[in-house]
Amino acid sequence: MEVVTNLKAKYKSEESKIKIAVGPGRANLIGGHTDYNMGFVLPCALDKDIILAAAPNQTDKVNLFSLNLNNAVSFSLDDLKFKREDDWANYAKGICYYLKEAGHEIGGIDGVLHGTVPIGGGMSSSAALETSVGYIFQLLFNLDIPPLDLIKIAFRAEREFVGVQCGIMDQYVSVAGVKNSVIFIDCRSLDHEVIKMPSDEVSVVILHTNIKRAAGSALNDRKNECFEAVKILQKHDSKIEALRDVTPEFFEKYKGELPKILQQRAEHVIYENQRVIDAKQALLKGDLELLGKLMLESHQSLTDLYGVGIQELDAMIKISRAVPGVIGSRMTGAGLGGAVVSLVEKASMDELMKEVLEVYPKLTNKQPLIYNCTISDGVKEISL
Ligand code: GLA
Repeated sequence: MEVVTNLKAKYKSEESKIKIAVGPGRANLIGGHTDYNMGFVLPCALDKDIILAAAPNQTDKVNLFSLNLNNAVSFSLDDLKFKREDDWANYAKGICYYLKEAGHEIGGIDGVLHGTVPIGGGMSSSAALETSVGYIFQLLFNLDIPPLDLIKIAFRAEREFVGVQCGIMDQYVSVAGVKNSVIFIDCRSLDHEVIKMPSDEVSVVILHTNIKRAAGSALNDRKNECFEAVKILQKHDSKIEALRDVTPEFFEKYKGELPKILQQRAEHVIYENQRVIDAKQALLKGDLELLGKLMLESHQSLTDLYGVGIQELDAMIKISRAVPGVIGSRMTGAGLGGAVVSLVEKASMDELMKEVLEVYPKLTNKQPLIYNCTISDGVKEISL
C-alpha cells in the first residue's frame, strides 16, 4: 500500500506499530442548508476518501505528509493554535486540540495520507481529513471515543478551530455512514437512521461544475438571514429556536412580516425539511421516482429561494434530466459552485457521462469533472 511504503521510507516507522484509517467524503441526497437550522438531512458516505497510515513517534510532534500535495506539515501537541499559513494542518491540529480538551491522552505521530476525494470538489474533503485523523489517534492510542463524540470533535475542528460556518452533516456522515445506505440525520437531536438503498442497480454520480463552492461569506450571510427570520417569527411563538421549529402552516400565517429575502430563505428551509422527511419515506417504500422528483424540487428551491444556484449547476441538472435512467439530481453541498449529485441507474451511467462531457462545455465553456461513486461505510480501520 502506497501510504504504508511511504510511511516506512520517510519516517522509518516500524511495521508492527502502523495503523491505517480511511475517512470518506460524502454526498447529500437532499436537505440543503437545513443542518445549521437544526433540521434534517439525507447524506451518504462515498468511496472517495482519505487513507491515512500512521505510527506513534514517542515525541510531542505530529508529522504528516500528503502524497497528493507532496507536502509535509509538522506541529507540536503543546502548541495547538490555528495559523493561517499552516493550511490543511489546521484541520489535524483542531482534532488534536479537541481530543486533548476531552481528556484523551495522545502523543505524537508520523503519518502519510492519500486522498481520492477531490479538494474543493463538493464532497467534503475536509470532513474526510478530520475523521481519518481523529480515528487514527483513536486506533494508535486505544482511545475510547463513541462515534457521536468523534463527530462532535471533527465538527468543532471545522467550525470552531478552522472557522468554517458549516452544519454538522459532513462530519456526521463521514463517521456514521453505512455501505449502500443513506443516513437520515436529525441535526438537533443528533440521532440518525440508516436507510438501505432500495436497489443495487443505482449509482451516485458527482457532476462537478469545476467552479469552487460557496465562499465562507456567502454561507455566513445565509445563516444570518435564517437566524434573523427566526427572531421575527419568535414574536408569535417564543418556543421557536430555529427554522426547524416552524411548521408550514405557521409560516404561511406570519410570513408577511418578514422582509422578502428572509421570507424566501425561510420558505426554502421550512419546505426542504418536509422534503427530506418525504424523501426518507420514498426510500423506505422503494419509490425512487418520488425521490428523484423531490431532489429536483430541492434544487429549484435552493436556486430560486435560497439564492445559491448558478447557471453551471443548472446546466448539469438540465443535461442529467435529459438522460433516461437518471432518477434525480440536485446541487449537493453549499452551492454557488461545487457539484450536482445524480442518482442514476448503472445501465445509464455511460450515457450520462457521455452527455455531460459533450454538452457541459458547450453550455458553459468549462470542463466538467465526473466522479462515479459507490456508497461506503463511515470512517474505519483497514489492515496492512
Ligand atoms: C456545506 C456545509 C454543510 C451544509 C451544506 C449545505 O457543505 O459544510 O454543513 O450546511 O453546505 O447543505
